[in-house]
Amino acid sequence: MLTNQSLRDQILSLVALYHKKTFANYDFAPGESPVPVSGRVFDSDDLKHLVDSSLDFWLTTGRYAEQFEREFAAFLGVRHALLCNSGSSANLLALTALTSEKLQDRRLKPGDEVITVAAGFPTTVNPIFQNNLIPVFLDIELGTYNVDVSHLEEAVSPRTRAIVLAHTLGNPFNLDAVLEMAQRHNLWVIEDNCDALGSLYRGRRTGSFGDLATVSFYPAHHITMGEGGCVLTNAPRLKTLVESFRDWGRDCWCDPGRDNTCGRRFEWQLGELPQGYDHKYIYSHIGYNLKLTDMQAAVGVSQLKKLPAFIEKRKHNWQRLYDGLKSLEEFLILPIPTEGSDPSWFGFLITVKPNAPFSRGQLIQFLESRKIATRLLFGGNLVRQPAYRGTQYRVVGNLANTDTVMSQTFWVGVYPGLTDEMIDYMIENFHEFCRQEK
Ligand SMILES: Cc1ncc(COP(=O)(O)O)c(C=O)c1O
Repeated sequence: MLTNQSLRDQILSLVALYHKKTFANYDFAPGESPVPVSGRVFDSDDLKHLVDSSLDFWLTTGRYAEQFEREFAAFLGVRHALLCNSGSSANLLALTALTSEKLQDRRLKPGDEVITVAAGFPTTVNPIFQNNLIPVFLDIELGTYNVDVSHLEEAVSPRTRAIVLAHTLGNPFNLDAVLEMAQRHNLWVIEDNCDALGSLYRGRRTGSFGDLATVSFYPAHHITMGEGGCVLTNAPRLKTLVESFRDWGRDCWCDPGRDNTCGRRFEWQLGELPQGYDHKYIYSHIGYNLKLTDMQAAVGVSQLKKLPAFIEKRKHNWQRLYDGLKSLEEFLILPIPTEGSDPSWFGFLITVKPNAPFSRGQLIQFLESRKIATRLLFGGNLVRQPAYRGTQYRVVGNLANTDTVMSQTFWVGVYPGLTDEMIDYMIENFHEFCRQEK
């Protein structure tokens, strides 16, 4: 007899067959096949999870989201992982949570200052503007591409309340210095861990140090859900605030499809509402809806199983590229892992030295002509982007290295889809270009 379960099993075994037929490996043809910077790496199990979830037709956040949050928090060694629909949303939620009145005198108020850097991805910094706070930009170091901590102290003013920094392209920032200063000045710390999933700092996973941390599951990232993000925290009160801002600003914390988790659904009296107003419809924040679907979370559950292998492959590819390019240091600044760290690299950053006999543009164009994809360090110097013209911010010292990154730096891929053959092809092409330009 055909039961629901046996039908589901048949569908899923067909999905595995479909995956094998459709997404089979193809041979690499040097010069013809692309060498991408990043991409989704998935197997039949990922596709089966996606279809399995679709057959539930639950659609919104559900059983897979609950499973992912539990397993992901355990992987990172944090108490709470809260899924949302992108890394950008995770950054928005993490910072916005700190504006809640429930934090009393530790809440962020309009005009408060947040220390950050201008070299990087826009949505690390955008929530500062979106919450009417003022970013204070510090310069970065070439090589690690993280904040230059020698100016940290100088950046603090009586209005400073928080530090928001990304672990650039997987390389942890100097957490010792940042956390020490944050503690001394009673500042919140948010780690943007979107590009650094699996990185270690002094043996502990990045994303577990800050008051809050964020992760992205966009296809370029260490694991993917297509679109997706996560906020991490060890603090139960911050967890509740992030959830509230994510889920329309509501006061109630029932999961979708559940009622009366608090056991007092019709007994609350908050604000100027009548006594007993349904808790499901009480709003304590001006919130958003940034939840993700259970189909995305289902893919996350199966991707998470592969994360340790993905991390190892990223490290392997990075090291092979580093060893192969080491002899070109006359022309190129190669990436430097932060002291005390073991990065789970997102990409391989290279700065063309000012005395090199070629420009970044020439090198990039050569690589692209050989089908080797390149990327810039996202927005370069964000304050020079059109979006930030006329905005209010402060710069401490100067942004000389940030400007250098904007004009001289780029990166190539180390993602797990790249094979040794592809990495060796990249190395050969760097050498060929440098030989011919010498
Ligand atoms: C450092 C950093 N933060 C945040 C994001 C935003 O993530 P998402 O694309 O999931 O919104 C990215 C995107 O790649 C990123 O690199």
